[in-house]
Amino acid sequence: MFRGLPLFPEAASTIAGGVDLLYFFLTAVTVFFSGLIFILVFFFAVKFRCRPQNPGPQHVHGHLGLEVFWSVVPFGITIVMFTWGASLYMRDARVPEDASDIYVVGRQWMWKIQHPEGRREINELHVPLGQPIKLTLASQDVIHSFYIPAFRIKHDVVPGRYVTMWFEANRVGEYHLFCAEYCGTQHSGMIGRVVVMEPKDYELWLGGVNEATPAEAGEKLFTEFNCVNCHQTGARQRCPLLGGLFGKDILLEGGRKVKFDESYIRESIITPNAKIAAGYSAVMPTYRGQISEEQILELIAYIKSLSPAEGK
Ligand code: CUA
Repeated sequence: MFRGLPLFPEAASTIAGGVDLLYFFLTAVTVFFSGLIFILVFFFAVKFRCRPQNPGPQHVHGHLGLEVFWSVVPFGITIVMFTWGASLYMRDARVPEDASDIYVVGRQWMWKIQHPEGRREINELHVPLGQPIKLTLASQDVIHSFYIPAFRIKHDVVPGRYVTMWFEANRVGEYHLFCAEYCGTQHSGMIGRVVVMEPKDYELWLGGVNEATPAEAGEKLFTEFNCVNCHQTGARQRCPLLGGLFGKDILLEGGRKVKFDESYIRESIITPNAKIAAGYSAVMPTYRGQISEEQILELIAYIKSLSPAEGK
């Protein structure tokens, strides 16, 4: 709705309009009350200025009606702000089921991006129009912040944990991609572009390069890091079989449950003894310092793709 207004950045995602509207509302309320206060201060200062015929003012000691009025009205307005903001936030926090998974790793000073179909890129993100995209972000070193103004999305990317974001682009074009958290000397150079393409152009772009998909790369790593030695059926099995577990709750020693998701897999690779599955012992070594965030994401993609029939 604010297209063409130079005050707002371009809007190119399904959530952008809603965010702008809320922002506009907040600004309007702020401007209205600031203006009201300024005008009243000025008006009263002139009207009640010190003049010989003006005796000292009468003191007012409490006025119930007035106090209720200036409590209830701001309360109502802030509740509107809260519910409006919370509903937008909830919409933004819930990733649609059919979203396609893209992995992003931030490091000094670049964004490395992996598409599920295998294509990789640096400081560029190509996405199809009208398709929900889920981003799983990790940082290799310090805190970065992934920011696409035209989509109205921004999230800090903190080392040691995963952040997920989603968006659906609704306008073809090229948009800015920024790192919005000071992260060292070249922070200002940690910029890139997002290219929104028609789905058929996107297919062409994807098909242009023949690279291993994250799941394929993860399969290789599963062997290279010797995961397969213990995570397999048969006499040598000493660790849980991972096929078909993704997204499910698993039982830990002591009866606690934990969701087998990206964060749990990552934690189990870095600090294997933190949450051991019931019935198993602490035999897994840590891979801290030996494995990159990209490799962990590839292993996750592989584990996600495993079915129970594969015996791993
Ligand atoms: Cu990365 Cu600033």
